[in-house]
Amino acid sequence: MTSILVVDDERSMRDFLKILLVKEGYQVETAPGGRQALKLIKRTVFNLVITDIRMDGMTGLELLGSIKEQQPSLPVVMITAFASPNDAVFAMKNGAFDYISKPFNVDEIKSVIVSATSKNDLVAEAKSLSASFPEIIGESREMVKIFEMIKRIAPTPANVLIYGESGTGKELVAQAIHRHSQVVDQDFIPITCSAIPEELMESELFGHVKGSFTGAISDKQGLFQLADNGTAFLDEIGELTPIIQTKLLRVLQEREVKPVGGIKVQNVNVRIIAATNKILEEEIMAGRFREDLYYRLAVVPLRVPPLRERKGDVPLLVDFFLKKYSRAFGKEVQEMSSYAMEVLMKYDFPGNVRELENIVERGVALESSNIILPESLTLSTFRSEKTSNESQTNSPFQVVANEEELFSLGLEEVMAETEKKLLTAALEKSNNSKMGAADLLRISFRSLRYKVKKYGIG
Ligand SMILES: Nc1ncnc2c1ncn2[C@@H]1O[C@H](COP(=O)(O)OP(=O)(O)OP(=O)(O)O)[C@@H](O)[C@H]1O
Ligand SMILES: [Mg+2]
Repeated sequence: MTSILVVDDERSMRDFLKILLVKEGYQVETAPGGRQALKLIKRTVFNLVITDIRMDGMTGLELLGSIKEQQPSLPVVMITAFASPNDAVFAMKNGAFDYISKPFNVDEIKSVIVSATSKNDLVAEAKSLSASFPEIIGESREMVKIFEMIKRIAPTPANVLIYGESGTGKELVAQAIHRHSQVVDQDFIPITCSAIPEELMESELFGHVKGSFTGAISDKQGLFQLADNGTAFLDEIGELTPIIQTKLLRVLQEREVKPVGGIKVQNVNVRIIAATNKILEEEIMAGRFREDLYYRLAVVPLRVPPLRERKGDVPLLVDFFLKKYSRAFGKEVQEMSSYAMEVLMKYDFPGNVRELENIVERGVALESSNIILPESLTLSTFRSEKTSNESQTNSPFQVVANEEELFSLGLEEVMAETEKKLLTAALEKSNNSKMGAADLLRISFRSLRYKVKKYGIG
């Protein structure tokens, strides 16, 4: 049940909203002020907070600030008095989900609440779906779509073609499909088409009988016999030669295979998952891939998007790989510094998740402290460009020149100096607008104002 907290210092308003929302089927609690609201939020799980802006004691905007610090994903809807559009703008800039203005329009209130709480439902749904795929990290909309698709198609016998750039996780997806299929207790047999020379490919796929060619010293089972009743994973399917494509097509049509040099055919029942980083449509146009084979394989086509199209997953992946490699290297679990994280968020990962994994692995290996600094990141393209003009020693963000200086100053001092430099740079960039600087630094106006005062800047 969706539960809403209504905060207003005016009792009649609280009662009005409570009656209205309870009638709509929501569970409602009320608080007469910000302090009481924060107490309730600590104890109870709410899906939404609706708060007046103008209140005695803590204002609605201050309450918003505290909520965003404690529970950034809890949506807050502001009630603004008659005509004070500035409050509304300010609230939106500081993370309010939306605002409703007095005098109330009941339909408007209802629709704002529906959109605020359904966004929450989507987040919850993404979390629960991704929990069914613990080995595939991701909660972005793109990954949630893939999880949904896997759930839908895995239990069917349909062949699946997974396509996407190198390093996007195609093999993980193929394994997940098998794991959620009805043949999970049968074998999942992978084969990498590009790794096998053409003259051996036929025997690898369909097996051979003893003596059928030099070196065939005994009968051998092929992929189709090994994966019978289970799943065969044909990786890099775009590399199959025309002859093998034709043979594979026949097997898919007839559901039977004949081993090399054999005379008897064997019935096989294999689900095929194929993967490629080529655009097979283009290969078909160029005459390099059989269209009829494509349709047999791609009963369900599944695209795994490149990492740069789902940057939201970068922090989760970083966390996952940090734990993995800290453990592997027997180090205390390391953390990514916020600068390093920022560098990663700006990077476009031509090598996708595999590249991110390598970057984190090297970072964990190279970093002697337990915070990974940008210097320990080895990015393939972007980094070399960046070091040449920006992050040299005279960068406005570089506070210490080396480890020695760092340890002589101490963390607090270095952090404070860094913060000061960043605040100054952001203020300069935004022509001394505090609102603008807060935006650039992605912190609230309130916290910017506090820090500016603390360091006596501007
Ligand atoms: N979403 C993810 N969560 C966790 N690890 C991932 C994810 N995606 C990829 N990886 C990791 O990245 C590496 C590359 O993934 P995978 O081999 O599945 O990619 P691929 O698309 O098959 O690449 P290629 O086309 O080069 O074969 C693997 O080590 C895999 O475990
Ligand atoms: Mg692969």
